[in-house]
Amino acid sequence: MPNTACILSIDQGTTGTTALLADVQGNIIAQGYQEFTQYYPHPGWVEHDPEEIWNATLQAIDVLFAKENALNIVAIGIANQRETTLVWDRKTGKPIYPAIVWQCRRTADKCALLEKQGIAEEIKAKTGLVIDAYFSGTKVAWILDHVSGARERAERGELAFGTVDTWLLWKLTDGAVHKTDYTNASRTLLFNINTLSWDETLLEILNVPKAILPEVCPSASNFGTASFYRNFWLKTFGKNISLDGIPITGMAGDQQAALLGQLCTKPGMAKNTYGTGCFLMLNTGAEKVSTKTGLLTTLACSLDENPVYALEGSVFVAGAAVQWLRDGIAIIKSASETEEIASRIPDSGEVFVVPAFTGLGAPYGIPMPAVLSSLNREGARANRSSVPTLESIAYQSADIVSAMLTDTEMTLDGLRVDGGAAANNFLMQFQADILGINVERPAQIESTGLGATYLAGITAGVWNDIEELEANRTEQARLEGSALKTRVFSPQIDAKQRNEKLAQWKKAVQRVMS
Ligand code: G3P
Repeated sequence: MPNTACILSIDQGTTGTTALLADVQGNIIAQGYQEFTQYYPHPGWVEHDPEEIWNATLQAIDVLFAKENALNIVAIGIANQRETTLVWDRKTGKPIYPAIVWQCRRTADKCALLEKQGIAEEIKAKTGLVIDAYFSGTKVAWILDHVSGARERAERGELAFGTVDTWLLWKLTDGAVHKTDYTNASRTLLFNINTLSWDETLLEILNVPKAILPEVCPSASNFGTASFYRNFWLKTFGKNISLDGIPITGMAGDQQAALLGQLCTKPGMAKNTYGTGCFLMLNTGAEKVSTKTGLLTTLACSLDENPVYALEGSVFVAGAAVQWLRDGIAIIKSASETEEIASRIPDSGEVFVVPAFTGLGAPYGIPMPAVLSSLNREGARANRSSVPTLESIAYQSADIVSAMLTDTEMTLDGLRVDGGAAANNFLMQFQADILGINVERPAQIESTGLGATYLAGITAGVWNDIEELEANRTEQARLEGSALKTRVFSPQIDAKQRNEKLAQWKKAVQRVMS
């Protein structure tokens, strides 16, 4: 596609980076991917090497450049694994400690102590979050308390804190810009989602100096201009390409980016990403809904200073349960085998799998050991347990949807889906059956990267607004032979059957909890 305008987006995820190139219709024209190392220095601890994150990002872009090299990139967008916490020296740009990954539980005890101070309600009202080691706040404080001299240097303004978006922006601008966006800030436990500013009281409670924090901007903003090592690509990869001078005009946490990438831009629209776990998000518009069901309230992508709110719930074990069938108890050889097995089994009967390996998320919110409910020796055979394991993903997602609807009193017309396991047709059909609404799977399931693309393209003036993107997508899908057709899974069971199944699932969960 020589010299036609296009947008580069970076989807920096927990296990690897994807680089995407999209044209002005919003179609993906090339992509590259690079994995990087996960470090587990102690049980429950998870770390990344910040330089490896950066290198994997460059390599993913380079894989993409190998496919498309006569480019006119007009804007760059970034989507990222959220909450993962980095601290670096402002002068040298060198991280003072590895990145503490969102999954890392090292600050769980600290969180338990905070909980005892009786501040959970205040924190929930200000941040929409619960006190948990998942979020960045206690991770930053941990780094400042465990790296010699770090706290004093942070107070003197010599150190910078950032989530992965901020780190990549810093690297892309050669240390010139220290900024984040609303969505990423809203996952730190330090950002007040009502006032859209860092909260002095929370900074004091969590013991984080203000001087370390990035400036927070709407997700569609002019964040800065790429300018790192002129001739970098020529020297490193031997290619006459440069990102110098390209504006970075969109940034968002990956789940919020996926919500936008799925064009869930109106209140009452929801997406579910089926990965190792599931991340479900419901757009609630200008209304900040306070949850009574254990969900999180968070900021969605904003195109201007006006906040857009969302409710979020996650299934802790989704694709991971299928991995467990394969690697843990070795009753299947590949994840895709489950779909073929499901097609041979008309009904899983009364067999339920409750994959509570790390507890169950909202609305249960209970940590507990792994339990297989109703799984006897007969049931442990591949064909009998694969299907209920897949079904457990749909049941848990349905529990979250139901909690969202209770909190908001909204109704849902359909659920938009993406992520690896969304490719499983049996799972998607069962999800539609158990929710009683349409499940819509777009042909382009790189929703996260598309969200970053849309943010960057709108700020750069490639598109005027969301309506133009929606019109583009409809038009593209309408074209004869278009690969962009959404597959819609409609419910195929009636309300009575659905309610019976849901009641049985609830009973199985209850048995696990008692
Ligand atoms: O909150 C964590 C989430 O952003 C991680 O997403 O896609 O990197 O697993 P992912």
